[in-house]
Amino acid sequence: MALVALLRLVRRLRNWIDFPLRGLLRLRHPVRRRSAARLDATLSQLGPAGSVLRSRADHLVARTGLAPGLRRFDEREQSEILAYADLIETVLTIADVQFAGETIDVLDVGIGDWIYASALLGVARGRGAATWPAVSMVGIEVDPWRLYRDGHARIDWAEFYSADLPGTRIVAGDFLAWSHSADFVTLLFPFVDRATHEQWGLPGRFFNPPGILRHAWSLVRENGVLLIVNQGTTEAEIQEQLLVDAGISIVARLTNFESPFYPYQLRRWAFLAQR
Ligand SMILES: C[S@@+](CC[C@H](N)C(=O)[O-])C[C@H]1O[C@@H](n2cnc3c(N)ncnc32)[C@H](O)[C@@H]1O
Repeated sequence: MALVALLRLVRRLRNWIDFPLRGLLRLRHPVRRRSAARLDATLSQLGPAGSVLRSRADHLVARTGLAPGLRRFDEREQSEILAYADLIETVLTIADVQFAGETIDVLDVGIGDWIYASALLGVARGRGAATWPAVSMVGIEVDPWRLYRDGHARIDWAEFYSADLPGTRIVAGDFLAWSHSADFVTLLFPFVDRATHEQWGLPGRFFNPPGILRHAWSLVRENGVLLIVNQGTTEAEIQEQLLVDAGISIVARLTNFESPFYPYQLRRWAFLAQR
């Protein structure tokens, strides 16, 4: 116990020093074009054309207009992006979400490396009332300068994954300082327990799950939706209590969701609220 407490203290001290330091240095190493996989080869691994799984993927790719974007990525990335699209599309389908405006504003909170940017944008666009509505998407990240082992900063990857998406913008900063509303607000894997928040290198002052949830909900426009996704039962239970405490009603949910396109260790839970 004492050792665990000591390790956490050391981690907190490290975060307290590291976080402002990387914000000051802003070390960058942009991701350059790498080899891409053939999308039809990735899809054909799901089964022959017309099989159940393959049809699900083909339908998803067509509905979201994902094909050109996916062709830039390797096989793992293509599969993971498909899994994100699958999850988001599945939960929006349950609630029959339609965005009525000529344009759709998407706000994604805590984007990480934003591997799923094209999936989020594609699903949102596919749910517009207009045939091919314009989508404007903002992704906010409080720790974009974090360096990965490959030498790239988180924002380098986020820029790479969102490079071909028109109307998309990355904002570096604390979400609680953001005040523009949107039709579709997403919290994909927000931190709901302090230990995970600290493991990811963030100082304690940013740990505010109820505040982030309430602020996200306050920015959802009329007829808009808030989507929250968590991993594993423990996080989902904490999340559900946060929603109850905030008085936010759920109109659709996914429990223990597993997309056939990409396996994760922990299954996904999703909560959708509508204004
Ligand atoms: C578990 S990660 C999820 C990343 C991404 N949404 C995904 O699905 O891979 C949570 C992210 O939220 C970011 N974050 C936490 N608090 C934030 C805040 N107050 N404002 C903006 N981003 C925040 C973290 O830095 C981290 O990148």
